[in-house]
Amino acid sequence: MRRPIPAADGAELREAVRGYYTERLATGCCGPSASNVVFEAAPDVPSFGCGDPNAAAAFRPGGTVLDLGSGAGFDALRAAEAVGPTGAVIGVDMTPAMLERARAAAERLGLAHVRFVEGTIEALPLGDASVDVVISNCVVNLSADVPRVLAEAHRALRPGGRLRLSDTFRHGFAHAELERDAWCACEAGAHDPRTFAAQARAAGFVDVRVDAPPAGIADGTTYGAVLHGTKPVAADGAA
Ligand SMILES: C[S@@+](CC[C@H](N)C(=O)[O-])C[C@H]1O[C@@H](n2cnc3c(N)ncnc32)[C@H](O)[C@@H]1O
Repeated sequence: MRRPIPAADGAELREAVRGYYTERLATGCCGPSASNVVFEAAPDVPSFGCGDPNAAAAFRPGGTVLDLGSGAGFDALRAAEAVGPTGAVIGVDMTPAMLERARAAAERLGLAHVRFVEGTIEALPLGDASVDVVISNCVVNLSADVPRVLAEAHRALRPGGRLRLSDTFRHGFAHAELERDAWCACEAGAHDPRTFAAQARAAGFVDVRVDAPPAGIADGTTYGAVLHGTKPVAADGAA
């Protein structure tokens, strides 16, 4: 189930992705894509996402949330607002400039229960069964090792925990150009929904589904959607 990647190995690809997003942050490409009370106070927190994992996450006050590839903090800060000060949010990202921007926003907003940790989503710097919800917004498609990312998300979730990954998908079977900039822009690595769902099931998730593509979408076109899954409570796979 490994995809071809436009690099010799995963580490080389991560270096390309890190450089790409450091530059995009510096050039101020993206504005917030949703209005929220957090962003009235922090309008310099850009979203690089392709959907809204938070809308599908059903956060509960006091819950613990992990954001894979948290970027400048757009979704993690909103999650912190949703779980409240009795909860906790951890954003993991590998790009120092993104972490710096996210930490500055959290401090300015007085959100002491969100922290941004440097690390990779293929080797999460978190203990087993330590979070209630894993979210992500336009990140997993950038990984050279999707099964490993899903295994790590599964490890970090508590039994019964929810996986809500917003990401790019490609409709139909048209071949994506395997070019490095297109990969970094969340295009070339876009998932096939059936393969991504099968990978999530193979990692141990149940109740796996991917939101439907927009009506009338042409073959080969990419679109944003959310993969939903649950870590089972019982060892036999029942949620
Ligand atoms: C398209 S941006 C999305 C950022 C954020 N989720 C948002 O919606 O604004 C991709 C982010 O994922 C991070 N990233 C990509 N691959 C990663 C990996 N393997 N491990 C950790 N972070 C990664 C990048 O540093 C970047 O901040």
